[in-house]
Amino acid sequence: MNPLGTRLKARAQLAALKVAATLLPSPRPLVLLGADASHKLCQTIAQLGAHHVLIVTDKGLEKLGMIDPIVRRLKRQKLSVSLFTGVLPDPTFSVVEQGLAQLKRDHCDAVLAVGGGSSIDAAKVIALAATQNRKPQKLVGVLKARKPALPLFAIPTTAGTGSEVTVGAVISDDKTHQKALIIDPKVVPLATALDPRLMRDLPAAITADTGLDALTHALEAWISEFANHDTDVYAGAAVRLIFDNLPKAYTDGHDLAAREAMALASHYAGLAINKAGLGYVHAIAHQLGAHYGLPHGRANAIVLPYVLDFNLQAAQKRLAQLARETGLAGSAQDDAVAARRLVSHVRELIASLNIPHHVAGVRHEDFNAIIEAAFHEAHGTYAVPRYMAANDCQQVLEALGQD
Ligand SMILES: [Fe+2]
Repeated sequence: MNPLGTRLKARAQLAALKVAATLLPSPRPLVLLGADASHKLCQTIAQLGAHHVLIVTDKGLEKLGMIDPIVRRLKRQKLSVSLFTGVLPDPTFSVVEQGLAQLKRDHCDAVLAVGGGSSIDAAKVIALAATQNRKPQKLVGVLKARKPALPLFAIPTTAGTGSEVTVGAVISDDKTHQKALIIDPKVVPLATALDPRLMRDLPAAITADTGLDALTHALEAWISEFANHDTDVYAGAAVRLIFDNLPKAYTDGHDLAAREAMALASHYAGLAINKAGLGYVHAIAHQLGAHYGLPHGRANAIVLPYVLDFNLQAAQKRLAQLARETGLAGSAQDDAVAARRLVSHVRELIASLNIPHHVAGVRHEDFNAIIEAAFHEAHGTYAVPRYMAANDCQQVLEALGQD
């Protein structure tokens, strides 16, 4: 199909997706916020009638001693607890299968995710597959599950993915490492604890990467053509909170007010992308992760300024509006100046967090595969303000690959 035909097809797919996104219910978890929120969540899990909870987490958090207090709290509520610590970054279907096997063996009737996006995504699919009598791979796509998931709860330990509120989960194929998306409102947890104490020992580099993932969610939702009044409220609030608090959380991890604000920002950005979706930053960053092993947040942080530059004209009004709402520009500046000011501020923020502008080792011979996969992800899925042609994407790759 020629580029125009491809574009028209993508536009038609997007129109259908917009109808689906409008009609699709987006349940929201009960949010417990503050320094003892994770303990209160243990009470809530008991109050909602669970008997045996499967905690889904990773070995790192267990070794850091972050899981023991949660286990004790659950037991104090007379709940039985099983611990699955097999989650790895970018979890695969075999990780989900292992957790599912443990859940069935121990007759668990609720799932509690404790960790970053990987643990929460794995827990979402474990809880969903547990009630379906189908292999987790069969749930890939939109609305593939027929029955409600097991009661699911989440305690995020990073402020970035917003997975505790999103209707999607990303699981990787064991062999190809291709990421598969499961989209279903049934994977939204019943309740979540945004507990800044659990984030205070997060290393500065991870604080930066995950915080910039949240910023990317908010900005991609803001400039999306699916943006509406509600998504603007959440995306705008997320951007303000991140501009004000990410540098503080990065400099002093024990600043609990900044940690709490970042947890909330990540949550708000997740609410925004549920309806407004993502854009080229994620589409390209996912491929950089697959090809060069870059962590998700770091890849987004590097790609973000280049894609904002690409959208500077097409999204000028929207970027200018956000610049004014965040106090970076006033009514005296015209849209072009205000939009550029916002993009410069994002660039300065990223630089202040010691994130490089470039990806080491980017190979020219990978460009075609990266561009094809990025367009496959974005076109017909993300309501971007301006379509990229292959040479536009190549220019971005060349720019971020220069050392
Ligand atoms: Fe993301």
